[in-house]
Amino acid sequence: MKTRIISVLIAGIAVLALLNGCRHEILSPGNGSGTGGGTGGGGGTPAGTCSPDSAYFVKDIMPIIASNCTMSGCHDNITHADGVNLTTYTQIMKYVKAGNAGDSKLYKVIIKTDGERMPPPPMPPLTAGQKALIQKWINQGAKNNNCGADCDTALFTFSGAIKPLMDSRCVGCHNPSSLGGNIDLSTYSAVRTSALTGKLYGSIAHQPGYSPMPKNSAKLSDCEITRVQKWIAAGSPNN
Ligand code: HEC
Repeated sequence: MKTRIISVLIAGIAVLALLNGCRHEILSPGNGSGTGGGTGGGGGTPAGTCSPDSAYFVKDIMPIIASNCTMSGCHDNITHADGVNLTTYTQIMKYVKAGNAGDSKLYKVIIKTDGERMPPPPMPPLTAGQKALIQKWINQGAKNNNCGADCDTALFTFSGAIKPLMDSRCVGCHNPSSLGGNIDLSTYSAVRTSALTGKLYGSIAHQPGYSPMPKNSAKLSDCEITRVQKWIAAGSPNN
């Protein structure tokens, strides 16, 4: 009886040692097995760190698509215009050829310059920066990847934190040609108006009584919500 307990213990310790060994293997830098999607020269980045050479689906791509393609009447769960639903990675991958942006429907339609372009006129086209990110992400293998968001709650100016957040997560559904809930978030004064009504914070913090935002995509991070809260508390300045 006693010997059995001891041998079980020894086996347990051996297994633990093995597991630990694996963990070190994964964590050791420079073995190329870090984050998915990194193509930048040599040596993998430790998992979780954002590489400026990579595009990430969760952090970069899904927000662009959610905000510009999944509004009501377009490619959302209910409407899925032309049979196209773009609310999840799996759905989006139906229009992507991993590794080849030029041969991917998703990329081809956003760079069109005629009436076939997506998002369709009168909606504004994606910006050059957004198109380049999507192109990069596809060419890097179109992985369902993410990295730790670089977010510092000490930075909460309109130009440095609030506007970039609105542009990437909200403006696609909240601009003069697509006024979700009759709310415009494309200019400073419009964002300020929403801040003053309490709706801006109520919706992103998912407070009761407000429509949870951003619609059709992941809740903002705690850091992003805190930045908005601090900016509003400071009087929503145009800084
Ligand atoms: C995919 C489209 C879409 C995205 C992305 C989106 N919204 Fe909305 N938003 C809507 C629609 C549509 C409404 C109208 C209410 C509803 O349908 O839920 C709305 C309503 C609102 C309201 C009014 C809420 C209320 O309770 O009166 C606010 C404020 C708002 N959105 C802010 C935001 C902010 C801030 C973001 C980005 C963090 C965002 N939205 C992202 C579509 C969107």
